[in-house]
Amino acid sequence: MPKGLAILTSGGDSAGMNPAVKCAVEYANQKGYQTHLVYDGLRGLIADNIVPATRDLVSGLLHRGGTLLRSSRSPEFFDIEVRRKAYENLVRRGIGNLIVIGGDGSFRALNQFHSDFGIPFAGIPATIDNDIAGTDYCLGVDTALNVIRESVDSIRDTASSFSRAFVIEVMGRHCGYLALTSALACGAEICLVPEIPYDLESIGARLKHDIANGRRYVIAVVAEGTKMGDYLTRWINDSIGMEARLTVLGHVQRGGSPTVQDRIMAYKFAVAAVDALDAGQKNSIMVFRDGSYSHLPIHQVTDSKYKLDPAIIRLASPLAC
Ligand code: F6P
Repeated sequence: MPKGLAILTSGGDSAGMNPAVKCAVEYANQKGYQTHLVYDGLRGLIADNIVPATRDLVSGLLHRGGTLLRSSRSPEFFDIEVRRKAYENLVRRGIGNLIVIGGDGSFRALNQFHSDFGIPFAGIPATIDNDIAGTDYCLGVDTALNVIRESVDSIRDTASSFSRAFVIEVMGRHCGYLALTSALACGAEICLVPEIPYDLESIGARLKHDIANGRRYVIAVVAEGTKMGDYLTRWINDSIGMEARLTVLGHVQRGGSPTVQDRIMAYKFAVAAVDALDAGQKNSIMVFRDGSYSHLPIHQVTDSKYKLDPAIIRLASPLAC
């Protein structure tokens, strides 16, 4: 395989993608690769939006949120003829290795590409959802949690001033990691996530008891995957008798300057990805497990379902009943 290596970001953007790109370029250059940047994710692979990675292109991006390489969700990549175009673009440029920074949908797409044309790739998990099997951490999660923490702290100020309940809906797709972790970190009274059965009747009894004993406001964090934001807000208003408002945090959670943790983990994932390719791994995903970095074959990641840490579930379960 030629020593050309291209880096792309794909799927939902997350903080930490930029430092991962910078480090992957610098480390791969040290190892003798000719590095390239793919703009616009998979769409850019198809459209040949690929340029050699110069020092200028990877300078001044470490502290920036989102992804300077930009991203896309590209259903057209499911078409083999479209993938063939992407392959021809890489061959023309002498690129025989790919690093993809994104979520498991992007990894699956690259694995299909690998089965079609034999181009090895290494995946770096990056999604605020933290829902990739096999890794305890995905880039962007810490930054997103800090955005949520700051927002909930601010909402608490107004909740307390007005003696209101606030329901705060956070992202995560089908995964409750962001909701559970932020509910614990922010001292919420209620937390609903898809993974934990909830019991509104007992939540109601608990709240009424607390209100009778002086509680003046309530913070509830709900995962978007429960689709309970609207309902819970009306229910608190009507059944508990406390004026309630809903705040959907939305895409603000995807932005912001990467935290120190996301920057450092980006570096470590990037080094692991270059090393994996260098060691001849063809389709591996970098993982962080029990405090150390390694990689797993892609099928072990995409064939399994991410499971929330039982310790967090235990801690947060009282918020669902
Ligand atoms: O996967 C990241 C994520 O932000 C999810 O939490 C959310 O459900 C989804 O992407 C939103 O997607 P889009 O940016 O396409 O609206």
